[in-house]
Amino acid sequence: MTLVAGIDSSTQSCKVVIRDAETGKLVRQGRAAHPDGTEVHPDAWWAALQQAIEEAGGLDDVAAASVAGQQHGMVVLDENGEVVRPALLWNDTRSAGAAADLIQELGGGDKWADAVGIVPVASFTLTKLRWLARNEPSNAAKVAAVCLPHDWLTWKLSGSTDISTIKTDRSDASGTLYWSAKTNQYRPDLLELGFGRLLQTPEVLGPTGIAGHLPNGAPLGPGAGDNAAALFGTGAGPGDVVVSIGTSGTVFVSAEVSPDDPSGTVAGFADVTGRFLPIVVTLNAARVLDAAGKLLGVDHEQLSRLALSAPAGADGLVLIPYLEGERTPNLPDATGSLHGLTLKTSDPAHLARASVEGMLCALADGLDALIERGAEANRIVLVGGGARSEAVRRVAPELFGLPVLVPPPGEYVADGAARQAAWVALGTAEPPVWSAEPPESYEAVSVPLIREQYKKAANLLG
Ligand code: XUL
Repeated sequence: MTLVAGIDSSTQSCKVVIRDAETGKLVRQGRAAHPDGTEVHPDAWWAALQQAIEEAGGLDDVAAASVAGQQHGMVVLDENGEVVRPALLWNDTRSAGAAADLIQELGGGDKWADAVGIVPVASFTLTKLRWLARNEPSNAAKVAAVCLPHDWLTWKLSGSTDISTIKTDRSDASGTLYWSAKTNQYRPDLLELGFGRLLQTPEVLGPTGIAGHLPNGAPLGPGAGDNAAALFGTGAGPGDVVVSIGTSGTVFVSAEVSPDDPSGTVAGFADVTGRFLPIVVTLNAARVLDAAGKLLGVDHEQLSRLALSAPAGADGLVLIPYLEGERTPNLPDATGSLHGLTLKTSDPAHLARASVEGMLCALADGLDALIERGAEANRIVLVGGGARSEAVRRVAPELFGLPVLVPPPGEYVADGAARQAAWVALGTAEPPVWSAEPPESYEAVSVPLIREQYKKAANLLG
């Protein structure tokens, strides 16, 4: 049996799966937690990776490995390859002002969409580099190279300390603002605009490029951003829109062309096969359910039961879920709010229902934006921790207005990385096709009222 390893270094934890390259059969797995916070030292990811690898029985017998990870985090290194300061993560909003400045300096969102297929928001790497240059000049002066969480972990696994050997892939490079998925080229001019000078950047590999080798000589694949890995891991096909409810909420498809949305709602990332991955990302997803559970003093299962005991639309109670500010729409300083409180709606069931609906409405708006930019949307493939909630699975079809498929709970990001590693190990022209257990499926039942009352309440926020 040829074994391969797939790694998902996500915001909250690190997961390792070891699978059979030919069939995809799961052989071993491990996981370890990451520290909380939106600023994390990469050494913590490395320690968690070591722990997860150990729990998965080690990598000595794998024929290839690939690392997928949370996107956009700014990992800055000095000329000796030492980390200069803790990484600012994708959900750190301190660079919102820098994002607005960069839009203005290039002459508008349309110029960015044209140049790199995405428009600056605080999540993207270049805005964090601008923040560093302006706020920590002595740290900025030490920086010789910039890379992303998955690039850094792949490089560490390769044992190299030479910053000129760091590699990345198209999917993650496409979220930096200084690499264009349309031309497959860096835009050094934009890096210089943001940071004030040029930096060493990783070489961008193609779909089965080799990023280095493990101590046993097995190749390391190019890796991926977590959303691209999830698309690859679920095996979603044309017309399948993946909705992932994790720390972030994401709605994405595979596409032939970049969406080039000047409003920035839809970002034009790349996928792992050479195509594009139009995506809408919200900052508030599974943790909205955590927060509602905390408010009501109930666990996830009880929250789900409560939500399903209230009527669709929660009798007009609407939760606008901007608990961590929001990225789509771009409101980094917004807070959450409740609308429509009456004596009738002031109970746990209505609040539970409103929290599920509010979180999903933001994602349904994302689906609309994708369709407006030309995405083919026939079915929703619902994944991520949030999909484990029965209420989320049952309410989702009411809001998306499309059939919803829920694959069995799994580590789809790590699986996507494992499938990439299998592609590298097997050396085939096309990626291996792994059989999967059938998904649960839910029929479309559109309930427009829920979306309408949400839109009305969201507009109140201006
Ligand atoms: C994508 C994004 C998030 C992170 C979460 O643009 O910021 O989905 O990748 O890990």
